[in-house]
Amino acid sequence: MEKIIEISNLAKSYRKRKSREIIQAVKDVDFNVYKGEILGLLGPNGAGKTTTIKLICGLLYPDSGEIKIKGIPNTDNRLESLQHISAVLEGNRNLYWRLTVRENLEYFAGNRGRSRKEVKEEIDELLHMFQLKDKENELVNRLSRGMQQKLAIAVAMLANTEVLLLDEPTLGLDVQTGLEVREILKSIVKNYQRTIIISSHDMDVIHDICDRTVIINQGTVVIDQRVDELIKLFEVLSYRLTLNEPLSLDQQKAISTRFPTNEYVEDQVYSYLTVQLEKSEDIYQIFQVLQLNRTPIDSIDRKAIRFDEVFLKIIQGDHQYAMD
Ligand SMILES: Nc1ncnc2c1ncn2[C@@H]1O[C@H](COP(=O)(O)OP(=O)(O)O)[C@@H](O)[C@H]1O
Ligand SMILES: [Mg+2]
Repeated sequence: MEKIIEISNLAKSYRKRKSREIIQAVKDVDFNVYKGEILGLLGPNGAGKTTTIKLICGLLYPDSGEIKIKGIPNTDNRLESLQHISAVLEGNRNLYWRLTVRENLEYFAGNRGRSRKEVKEEIDELLHMFQLKDKENELVNRLSRGMQQKLAIAVAMLANTEVLLLDEPTLGLDVQTGLEVREILKSIVKNYQRTIIISSHDMDVIHDICDRTVIINQGTVVIDQRVDELIKLFEVLSYRLTLNEPLSLDQQKAISTRFPTNEYVEDQVYSYLTVQLEKSEDIYQIFQVLQLNRTPIDSIDRKAIRFDEVFLKIIQGDHQYAMD
């Protein structure tokens, strides 16, 4: 697969103005971005995502390390490498507040050397896709935050670059608009051949949209893996059995031998057994033990691990699964 962006040994620190304290925002970041993929840059607040994105866009200069865009270091030949990238940065909406929605799209397309005629159809398509058609003549400063965000993404799309960088595209949006933006991003992924990097502190967004995730924590990459494989690695199936009779001591011992992390609780009516299985077939081992005393089962509930739990485990340092 063709590498579009290659990031190696990236480091960047800031110096706080007042205290002169130095903050190492990015310590050691390495990853590649491949043509046509949707990469999720995931990490808690303060992890270094925005700094990494600004370094990729050439808005910041690294202390050390290198970023190559289509083989060209972005510090050597800034204009040449940056023509392949458009970005929507957090907070900084690249829009003119006193122009209308359509005027913004036309203006920024013009900035990228595209004529009004050339982009007319594309603008109509984008307005439709982003559900901004009925707002096309509205001034930007009269739009809701969610609509401004959608317009900012549409403007970046229109630049027609190979790479699109979106920093926290759903941050600060209400739940419904956040979901709408997610649907739009998914349809961009489906309908346009683009390479997209989305940063987010929200694992749900990354899980929903991205093929691969690079998880960063405290300025360092801790995971670089396909999202589906990452979930598989962490997949532990948790079952909770509600029993109509308590387990005998022999049964409890047998369960503990095979499933040392089990939890067993008795109350007046029911007894509850919770076990973590590696494979779903292991449930039969539980049945064998229950069979010994013909213990009646009232119900079985299964809880599969969720991506946000995976993320928390990684961030809490339980990342022996990290691939080096
Ligand atoms: N301009 C700045 N001056 C000083 N510190 C900064 C500046 N920008 C970011 N930081 C600090 O650098 C770290 C990483 O920030 P950032 O890249 O914005 O993380 P993220 O986008 O993952 O939340 C944080 O500790 C943040 O407070
Ligand atoms: Mg950020």
